[in-house]
Amino acid sequence: MCGIVGYTGGSQAAPILLEGLEKLEYRGYDSAGIAVFGGKEKKKEPSIEVIKAKGRLKVLFEMTDSGKAVHGTCGIGHTRWATHGEPSVVNSHPQYAKDKRVVVVHNGIIENYQELKERLVRDGCEFVSDTDTEVVAHLLDRYYEKDPVDAISKLMYHVRGSYALGILFGDRPGEIYAVRKDSPLIVGRSAGGNFIASDVPAILRYTRDVCFIENQVIVRLTGKDIQFFDVDKAELKKEFTQIQWDTEAAEKGGFKHFMLKEIYEQPKAIRDTVSPRVKDGKVNLEELHLTQEDLASVRRIQMVACGSAYHVCMTARYMVEGLVRIPVDVDLASEFRYRRPILEENTLVIVISQSGETADSLAALREAKSLGHKVMAIVNVVGSSIAREADSVFYTWAGPEISVATTKAYSTQLAAVYLLAIAMGRARGLVDEQTEADMVAELLRLPEKIERILEEKERIQWFANKFSHSRDIFFIGRGLDYASSLEGSLKLKEISYIHSEAYAAGELKHGTISLIEDGILVIGVATQSSLFEKLISNMVEVKSRGAYVLGVTSYGNYSMEDVANYTIYVPKTMECFAASLVVVPLQLLAYYVALGKGLDVDKPRNLAKSVTVE
Ligand code: G6P
Repeated sequence: MCGIVGYTGGSQAAPILLEGLEKLEYRGYDSAGIAVFGGKEKKKEPSIEVIKAKGRLKVLFEMTDSGKAVHGTCGIGHTRWATHGEPSVVNSHPQYAKDKRVVVVHNGIIENYQELKERLVRDGCEFVSDTDTEVVAHLLDRYYEKDPVDAISKLMYHVRGSYALGILFGDRPGEIYAVRKDSPLIVGRSAGGNFIASDVPAILRYTRDVCFIENQVIVRLTGKDIQFFDVDKAELKKEFTQIQWDTEAAEKGGFKHFMLKEIYEQPKAIRDTVSPRVKDGKVNLEELHLTQEDLASVRRIQMVACGSAYHVCMTARYMVEGLVRIPVDVDLASEFRYRRPILEENTLVIVISQSGETADSLAALREAKSLGHKVMAIVNVVGSSIAREADSVFYTWAGPEISVATTKAYSTQLAAVYLLAIAMGRARGLVDEQTEADMVAELLRLPEKIERILEEKERIQWFANKFSHSRDIFFIGRGLDYASSLEGSLKLKEISYIHSEAYAAGELKHGTISLIEDGILVIGVATQSSLFEKLISNMVEVKSRGAYVLGVTSYGNYSMEDVANYTIYVPKTMECFAASLVVVPLQLLAYYVALGKGLDVDKPRNLAKSVTVE
């Protein structure tokens, strides 16, 4: 959601801003804009030129000759994902107060903007947009006398909600100010100038030297200097980190889409996540600072997440309850945070999030902590808010994930859950040494098995083309396969816009079966031997009502072909790890259906990669 970039230094700012915004396109947006000190013709008096456009960034590139037509070496840029006010030029950012004395870009939501706006209007302030951000611009204009940090500090005492702000003050050319609360923002430094951005890929071409700024920290940047202040204007010292991955990791590298590239990166991502946690054939999670006693004392697990990460929690419930024999509760973060949850003593709370910035997941983490519970986070983005606020962090090493529909991050989250389950099973005496060794060995073989599935992608592509014009597609499964069906269905609807639902197959007869018509595609996922026959019966039921049935199962389960019109096999694995394999053909199916429909696979309509507002 909304992307921010800022640059001040020795180079022309506009091309850097536009290029940075392009790298943030994955976050989702419907309009974009930049503001640069200097303006079109170099005037004596510094002025800020603001250029905005509705729609794709391409428009902004065209309007500015890829930034070359805008002169000036300091500026801020923004991609907007509409929350307050429709997507339009006037509502897009930068927003500013009169005479552009204060120019602002914002990611987040100002919750009390309505009451602040009414007060400002009563005082004679004129608003042009419907945005909450314009309130910030007017308030800063009001508070600004001589000291920008003082104005920002006053603002922070008056606004409620979440924000990452990039700010220019008209009489301070060459300076960028920034502040964040519950919305992501990083600072980067280089010999050629300094940066702010919502995420690392935006500035990675120029620097790897970044600082993940904390909540309520104000930053002042010039081309040469970066200073940090707390809300009371006291100067702070901040650590910078070196980003390890390189620009190629965030480029398409010859693939048509990031999604396909990321599907192909899954073997490596799983290897990178599992290998460092295996020592001498055993799971080693010492980085989590949890003793055997800590793990053994857990009586209940509460898992919380959104989207695909929630489906990982659903998989984890079946896997962990089966192996570790303790109850696992699973909640959507948006529900958990408001349902006044009751957490018993010795409940381990686990929040799963790729971005580490999802507003509901972050709020759920805070809710659990406020109830006195320790929270473990399974997170992909290093230094993100959830990673920082959790008591312990289990990093997935998927690398940057750009496509809105998650694939490799999902797979590494599953791997993290398996490692945790094995460690807990050992600590509770339910997994013996041999079983642990066998499970670990199988985990290390999953990447190679995924590679084998990828080799057969043409079969899936052929099938996808046959069904790319479907109106509805249903998924059914039982147990772990139900959790995988949920993920398969979400992938499909996210990027192909085909209506799709996943059902626990046993529920079919309680209503859903009435939706089955001639030719409708039903995908049955069946990897669990104890449930295989039951799922086959459900497939017979839908087939006899006219459905076209696709079976997804493991090699060896050839009786699937007696029922299914078409079957996709995945290599055999331990049944508790099956979700890691069946998800791959489901991801490919979604990808090729969307491709067949000519859709924007990496940036599906209305969706954002990182949902930083409620
Ligand atoms: C968005 C993304 C999904 C993701 C969900 C949760 O909806 O499009 O792919 O699963 O957010 O995001 P998180 O970063 O918390 O895993």
